[in-house]
Amino acid sequence: MEAAVQDVLTADDPLYDELYDVTNEAMAIGNWVDVNSIMPQLHKLRAVAPVHKGRVRELLGLPHHDRHIRSAGRQHFTALTYEACEAAFRDPQTFSNSVQGHASDLDKYSMGILEMDPPMHRAYRRTIQPKFLMPEAMGWWRKRTIDNIVHRLIERLAKGERADLNIDYCARIPVYTITTAIGLDGDDALRFRHAYMNSTSSSRNVTMEDRIANGRIVEETVLGLIAARRAKPQDDLVSFLLKTRLMLPGEEPRPLTDREIMAHVKLVMVAGGGTSWRQMGITLFALLTHVDQFEQVKEDRSLIGDAIEEALRWNPTAPYFYRMVMKDTTFYGIDMPEGSVLELCLGPANRDPSRWSNPDTFDMHREKLTNMALGLGTHRCLGMNVARVEIETGINALLDAFPNLRLDPDAPAPFITGGLEQQGPSGLPVLLR
Ligand code: HEM
Repeated sequence: MEAAVQDVLTADDPLYDELYDVTNEAMAIGNWVDVNSIMPQLHKLRAVAPVHKGRVRELLGLPHHDRHIRSAGRQHFTALTYEACEAAFRDPQTFSNSVQGHASDLDKYSMGILEMDPPMHRAYRRTIQPKFLMPEAMGWWRKRTIDNIVHRLIERLAKGERADLNIDYCARIPVYTITTAIGLDGDDALRFRHAYMNSTSSSRNVTMEDRIANGRIVEETVLGLIAARRAKPQDDLVSFLLKTRLMLPGEEPRPLTDREIMAHVKLVMVAGGGTSWRQMGITLFALLTHVDQFEQVKEDRSLIGDAIEEALRWNPTAPYFYRMVMKDTTFYGIDMPEGSVLELCLGPANRDPSRWSNPDTFDMHREKLTNMALGLGTHRCLGMNVARVEIETGINALLDAFPNLRLDPDAPAPFITGGLEQQGPSGLPVLLR
């Protein structure tokens, strides 16, 4: 396993450029926007009302794009304040996650727990949650994979004078962390992610045949892994899920089926592979472009945690989530019929001036208040501890190895880019010494 990880980490595989370019990623699913120009418009809309009729894209004058097949053709509403988003996040009975699935009702729960509602959601989440608590993130995840990968990447970087930390560092840590945690070989990580990203209904630039073929690769890989671990358990997530028991209300506890394990695995791969990559990049972008605060972090490493939380508030990588309205309801004075869709703008909610002063400014010393980057309530991010440990370990190791780390003045200046639903830096060109 070690040799495989090293080989892939040191390779200049063109798939990194293909899979880890935030702009291309957004264009491939048809949702690219000029993310820097829309925040002033969102501030204006929020000042008019906390909740609006219509999609956020319509309100911003952007071309139509459906993120979820299940939201197509439905009436939409948009929540922009912290308070309104929090109220919806905390009321899953009225605002359901069932809108999140990729596919039709024929493929129910293609997104696993992310699209389930209570009480089913709680029962399924409990089968996987123990592996994601902070002691596990600091222990099992960090010691088993994160430290190892970070160390090898730093060794690779140290051979040069410059780097693009987006591709050479941030992209490589989460994909291997997740893949090896699941139980796949580090060598398979990139191919597996590529197949998964090209197998869903959001993949625009692939033919239906390729989509089906990629879906088959994903299913066969995971089912093969489950069979192998059933025969011979190891210290990985799939072996853990084979031992766990599902306790659905009114039913006897039972093991998870292969399809249920597959749903967990696919969700963790997709939710954990892209988010930590982009959020680590956003945190480094924030520090590299706010040199005074970067110097303070270098002097006092205990500030890294504050920088990570403030970067999450300032620019969460996944700033928009949807909910299905389950019954006729009046929300902030607006009538919403059953079957309509509420768009929760948690990125703009994180810039709500009634909660944070100077909300557009990155200031890691501001008062610590919960922000929404990781969601709130029932579906609050399962992987948040792992993400925080990945980002903190990664940045600490960079600063240990390259105390003079800074933006490369000869390279194009990086900026935040992407789509409404996923954002990150355009690149992170740095001088290492
Ligand atoms: C900093 C990086 C991350 C961000 C910003 C982020 C953000 C989020 C958000 C906003 C949600 C809530 C979605 C909703 O309410 O509909 C969520 C859920 C989730 N995240 Fe993360 N995430 C990150 C990293 C990760 C990682 C590393 C993993 C896995 C290792 C992960 C796995 C999940 C899963 C499985 C869910 C669904 C939880 C549920 O439905 O109960 N995330 N994430």
